[in-house]
Amino acid sequence: MKALGVKPGDEVLVPSHTAFPTAEAILFADATPVFVDVTDACTIDPEDAVTKISARTVGIVPVHIYGHPVQVDAFQTLASQRRLWMLEDCCQAHGATWRGQRIGSFGRAAAFSFYPSKNLTVMGDGGILVTDDDEIAARGRRLRDHGRVNKDVHTELGFNLRFNDVQAAIGRVLLRRLDSMNARRRAIAARYAQALAGLPIELPREQPGARHVYHLYVIRTPRRQELAAFLKERSIQTGIHYPVPCHKQPAVERLAPPPLPRTERLVEEILSLPISAGHTDAEIDQVAAADTSPAPRSRSATSRWGSRPAAMTSSWRHGRVRYGARRPARRASPTTRCR
Ligand SMILES: Cc1ncc(COP(=O)(O)O)c(C=O)c1O
Repeated sequence: MKALGVKPGDEVLVPSHTAFPTAEAILFADATPVFVDVTDACTIDPEDAVTKISARTVGIVPVHIYGHPVQVDAFQTLASQRRLWMLEDCCQAHGATWRGQRIGSFGRAAAFSFYPSKNLTVMGDGGILVTDDDEIAARGRRLRDHGRVNKDVHTELGFNLRFNDVQAAIGRVLLRRLDSMNARRRAIAARYAQALAGLPIELPREQPGARHVYHLYVIRTPRRQELAAFLKERSIQTGIHYPVPCHKQPAVERLAPPPLPRTERLVEEILSLPISAGHTDAEIDQVAAADTSPAPRSRSATSRWGSRPAAMTSSWRHGRVRYGARRPARRASPTTRCR
């Protein structure tokens, strides 16, 4: 934010449905995050964004949440018409593309995280700012090293955000494997999609123009609690990304952000199933088999759990569901390693 020249009093549009650090960056620059609602694809809604622009708005931070690109065209148009900059939050979407072009190359700048659960990591913490704007690059370099322009002279207050060389070297090696790791995530998503088709849960869908890299595989169901508990009984870990939207975080209470109805409903229904480039087909099949109904394993909708809620509920509670030949051992159970 500071490298983009954000000043106290500026407003920056940001989805509420994101990891809190997206909004935190705006707050650190003493600017105001203005929260925007979501589309059905869980990404920031360009139509709602337009309604949130004020005379103080300086920029917009679209987040390619879960690995799915935002509607980039709409945000590019909005940014150019309203003279706003765009900073892409690519922390969950390394390698994803929009109309064949890598995300992170559309905005004035873009931020990637290498936190250990991300699609690209460095075996530790780290991140990167990418830009083709020389001024932003120079200011970013200064800010990460206490605002210094050389060994002895500091032109502004900065931070210690230097990146460890060893981790950078690890990242360069893993970068070569990014596309194949993403291909594996996409294969897992396709496997889930096939196995879970017909259930009364909403599966993630790739929107036209977007190539998803499935940092998370997030399904939607109004019976989220029940399903999570049922899977937990079977040693299958799930996650919720994120249960408390940014506009409801105590850290921004003083801003009294207005309600966002679609975001508030979404966060009640989302559930992240296990996914990573390291999961085996057998692990994914265990999760999918646990999600599907008790016997019979017919493809007809009436044999699936959702169309028989009472039976499903009692099966979930009493563990009477036959969900495949073996119950996964606790150590080997699929997990969601994300935050
Ligand atoms: C969408 C999003 N933005 C920002 C961040 C912050 O990344 P980091 O923890 O590397 O600062 C994360 C990571 O949790 C994220 O998922």
